[in-house]
Amino acid sequence: MKIKHRVAIVGGGLAGLRAAIAVFDSGVSDVAIISQLPPVRSHSVAAAGGINGSLANHPNGRDDNWEKHAFDTIKGSDYLADQDAAEILAKEAVPCIVETEHWGCPFSRNPDGTIAQRPFGGAGFPRTCFAADKTGHALLHTLYQQAIKRGIKIYQEFLVLSLAVHEGRAVGGVVMNIVTGELGTVQADALLLATGGAGKIYAHSTNNLLNSGLGMAIAYWAGVPLKDMEFIQFHPTGLWGTNILMTEGCRGEGGYLLNNKGERFMARYAPKAMELGPRDIVARAILTEILEGRGFNQGGPGGGYVHLDLRHLGEAKINERLPEVREICKNFAGIDPVYEPIPVQPSQHYTMGGIDTNIHGATRLKGLYAAGECACVSVHGANRLGGNSLLDTIVF
Ligand code: FUM
Repeated sequence: MKIKHRVAIVGGGLAGLRAAIAVFDSGVSDVAIISQLPPVRSHSVAAAGGINGSLANHPNGRDDNWEKHAFDTIKGSDYLADQDAAEILAKEAVPCIVETEHWGCPFSRNPDGTIAQRPFGGAGFPRTCFAADKTGHALLHTLYQQAIKRGIKIYQEFLVLSLAVHEGRAVGGVVMNIVTGELGTVQADALLLATGGAGKIYAHSTNNLLNSGLGMAIAYWAGVPLKDMEFIQFHPTGLWGTNILMTEGCRGEGGYLLNNKGERFMARYAPKAMELGPRDIVARAILTEILEGRGFNQGGPGGGYVHLDLRHLGEAKINERLPEVREICKNFAGIDPVYEPIPVQPSQHYTMGGIDTNIHGATRLKGLYAAGECACVSVHGANRLGGNSLLDTIVF
């Protein structure tokens, strides 16, 4: 098997699809995507709650602008983000989101027809655009359709195992057809890695099974530095048992976190932001409650948990804004969040570090680029804001 194209994109999630579309639209039609999965099953589909952009559509966020978004991103990163990159992320957010809207992304709407926004941690007011609690799903299908429309070749269920470097330049790699086991080569003038994160090195992770970090590894084996690998994000609310993401949108829509005494314990840790404090603070608060004996299932198998309570939101709002959360809870935990609190525990969620790139996605190896979670621009520093990862995939 010999695969040969001018540009090969490794990874069929949001970052890979968006990059392929950009390459095609720049006039290079011989671009192909090599993906472990059918693209619409990639892990981007699990990014639930939203995508940040200072559209200022919500009455409580009318004076929002890209400078505020950039500032919140940098502050949220514990001032370790590359500030030039954060500026680009925030400036490009609005045009990039509007572009996906024009491509047909079914965002949730305000009564006046504008894109709806909900509060997430970081801004303190609604800046996060969403499509119910299936935002990654909606964006992924939108970009997939754009790729299909352009006739971009997709090799699905193919895994790139290593890179080939010749005279200081990436020229291709070794590829495996996952279905048949056949090995072959891929050859290209330029390659872009968009292979996602490395969550599955953790026991408790919201990531899908394929997020093994292989894309980062093959770059590293080819001599490309990785950056910020010590910065791992824990999402406060993974569903106890499976660690499936219970989106920050649950808290953005007004959900409470409760300990075994029925207390909204975030009052002790972030009295102003409460449940919408930065993810690291909320995750540590939950763990502290568990370690100090105020969790459920203390010392039991699977670890302790606290409750995420949506019951006061009512069935109509849960069905409109959080339908996937309800479905997941029923299917994977046997509970209905309309009537019962959801057991949650902090779970590894995002790899802030990755393949060292500049703001153009170029690595230090000629011919090799990277984008999305496997890359490190570094726009998230030590702590990514919720809603900035989907944005990262369509901006960079
Ligand atoms: O909670 C969430 O919906 C996750 C969003 C994100 O990580 O950006």
